[in-house]
Amino acid sequence: MASITLTGVGKTYPGKSSNHILKDIDFSIGDGEFVVLVGPSGCGKSTVLRMIAGLEEISAGEIRIDGERVNETAPAKRGLSMVFQNYALYAHMSVFENIAFGLRLARVPKAEIRTAVQAVAKMLQLEHLLERRPPQLSGGQRQRVAIGRAIVRKPRAFLFDEPLSNLDAALRADMRVEIARLHKQLGATMVYVTHDQVEAMTLADRIVVLGPSGVQQIGAPMALYEKPANVFVAGFIGMPKMNLAEGSVDARGALALGQVALDWHNAAAGGQAVTVGIRPEHLVPDPNGAIRGTVVLVERLGAESHVHLEVAGLARPLVVSIKAEPPASGAAWAVSPLAGALHVFGADGARIEPAQFNGLSEVA
Ligand SMILES: Nc1ncnc2c1ncn2[C@@H]1O[C@H](COP(=O)(O)OP(=O)(O)OP(=O)(O)O)[C@@H](O)[C@H]1O
Ligand SMILES: [Mg+2]
Repeated sequence: MASITLTGVGKTYPGKSSNHILKDIDFSIGDGEFVVLVGPSGCGKSTVLRMIAGLEEISAGEIRIDGERVNETAPAKRGLSMVFQNYALYAHMSVFENIAFGLRLARVPKAEIRTAVQAVAKMLQLEHLLERRPPQLSGGQRQRVAIGRAIVRKPRAFLFDEPLSNLDAALRADMRVEIARLHKQLGATMVYVTHDQVEAMTLADRIVVLGPSGVQQIGAPMALYEKPANVFVAGFIGMPKMNLAEGSVDARGALALGQVALDWHNAAAGGQAVTVGIRPEHLVPDPNGAIRGTVVLVERLGAESHVHLEVAGLARPLVVSIKAEPPASGAAWAVSPLAGALHVFGADGARIEPAQFNGLSEVA
């Protein structure tokens, strides 16, 4: 298996300066690690994967696989297996042949190929489709063939570009479990791009959040969830999305959300406008709660409901996620944030921690 390191990697397409799409990308993927790349559409996730695979030239920096510089190494020599966002299957070959292709090139004995393809087809629920050709398959079936083609070989590392995006919810959940199992079984290094929060949170050892200005934060899923380093990550990680609202820290360091005083202090951060983040699942109904307003919308999802609470002084309603029976639309309602659930970000977007108390006084 393999470790992968990107140092100062950049990508510029010829032409306008707006074609400077990636700059100073630095991160490394440990041997056997599962790293998930997330970020808004167009931020360069597929480009990063394609550069690692060698399908896209890199304009700056260096990529190393197992410590060896591969900038000039041909894709086939990198020992990686990639599942593309747009699968790229051979239309004139059967599903069986598509999956077997890499093994045939590697001159693996016929019987061995048959066993390997059948095992993969079983795992991907493709056994009944082996004789068909890609144009005769649905999008989700094609996507599974592409995954099969990648995993049937034993590459040094897998690069997955949104491999489950075209599957229905049930199959997607099954495949997610299969990929987790595959990772465990092979101990393979995996780099995985997804827009799906559940996939990112459950599959990743570490998540890399890419934003418009490059890497925003790298960390274990729960570390990103509990302590997003900036507003961008706060708004990106978590489902439903974190509430982000206008707040202020007064000269003495006390925090207010609109006009509501909150239990958070940092004298050193006093006297600035801030963004206050509170996750919908960290606001709880409380008749004496300081955050009061009017329910403007209730979304029932079955296991939980999302209650939209309009609060005076805030530009947008706060979303509150509750499992109990929700209030009626139009009702007056009050909530409180759970202890330690407040995220505060300064004007530059960076996270500000509350001050610690050493018993008597505040330690900034
Ligand atoms: N040949 C090209 N010339 C100029 N710009 C390009 C070229 N190919 C891609 N881009 C731009 O590079 C940026 C990154 O594209 P990329 O496909 O890596 O995004 P992504 O993060 O994978 O997005 P998505 O989530 O939609 O798949 C996009 O803004 C895209 O328009
Ligand atoms: Mg992409």
